[in-house]
Amino acid sequence: MFVQILGSAAGGGFPQWNCNCANCAGFRDGSLRAKARTQSSIAISDDGVNWVLCNTSPDIRAQLQGFAPMQPGRALRDTGISAIILMDSQIDHTTGLLMLREGCPHQVWCTDMVHEDLSTGFPLFNMLTHWNGGLTWNQIELDQCFSIPACPNLRFTPLPLRSAAPPYSPHRFDPHPGDNIGLIVEDLNTGGKLFYAPGLGKVDAPLLEIMAGSDCLLVDGTLWDDDEMQRRGVGTRTGREMGHLAQNGPGGMLEVLEQLPEQRKVLIHINNTNPILDEDSPQRAELDRRNVEVAYDGMSIVL
Ligand code: MLT
Ligand code: MN
Ligand code: ZN
Repeated sequence: MFVQILGSAAGGGFPQWNCNCANCAGFRDGSLRAKARTQSSIAISDDGVNWVLCNTSPDIRAQLQGFAPMQPGRALRDTGISAIILMDSQIDHTTGLLMLREGCPHQVWCTDMVHEDLSTGFPLFNMLTHWNGGLTWNQIELDQCFSIPACPNLRFTPLPLRSAAPPYSPHRFDPHPGDNIGLIVEDLNTGGKLFYAPGLGKVDAPLLEIMAGSDCLLVDGTLWDDDEMQRRGVGTRTGREMGHLAQNGPGGMLEVLEQLPEQRKVLIHINNTNPILDEDSPQRAELDRRNVEVAYDGMSIVL
């Protein structure tokens, strides 16, 4: 399977348009060695022609422009996007659906919780019915694997993850399984297995076992420190409150990954405040020592 990282940053991207934190300002004035990053999305394919888009970022236009294999020329109007899977209903993962309206109808796979959010608080499903049928909902049932006709050699297994529903969700303060999922994607031909979870607030023992059985982990890299937004003076919310497990500290993502010696480990959904974006930072050196990679836009992984 081909896994293409279209966008590796968290909501806001890097640099964030209105941010003067040390990272964003350092990137702009050239004093920081770092790559710009668009907002969180990947594409997966078993043949390199038909792609399943996981999350639809507001940066989708630039992301498609930067990745020729998703612009096939089979017809006057055409796209390599064969289906879309949503991991949650957050703005950075769903707003791109509006940018894809010219290509409706789209096949969208998501849970009942995400469908509810996107039919009420952020009613993309309703709005887009005005564009050639809009979005066709394919319901994801938790823990039940499914396949997508355009990529018949891939098997997807959705797992409920602990995270937070967005502010516009009717159940914002009443978390439900299915608000946020992770995916195991398995290539039935090669046997390659990907675990993808850009929003991961907690790793319990059963999940750790699932992660141990994957060849590549593409997991939540939002924050280095749980209180990083406060430390950088740009916000008050902690990683825990936002449903993101920080890398540093007891029980953090680095300790979790340390228990999994075999597979490739890649952090994605990196917030613009995270010191790992600075390629010369001690935190980045710490990741290198631990064989933990930082996803970047344009990165490809073959499994
Ligand atoms: C998140 O990942 O917690 C959200 O995307 C935050 C946001 O709204 O940007
Ligand atoms: Mn996000
Ligand atoms: Zn910033």
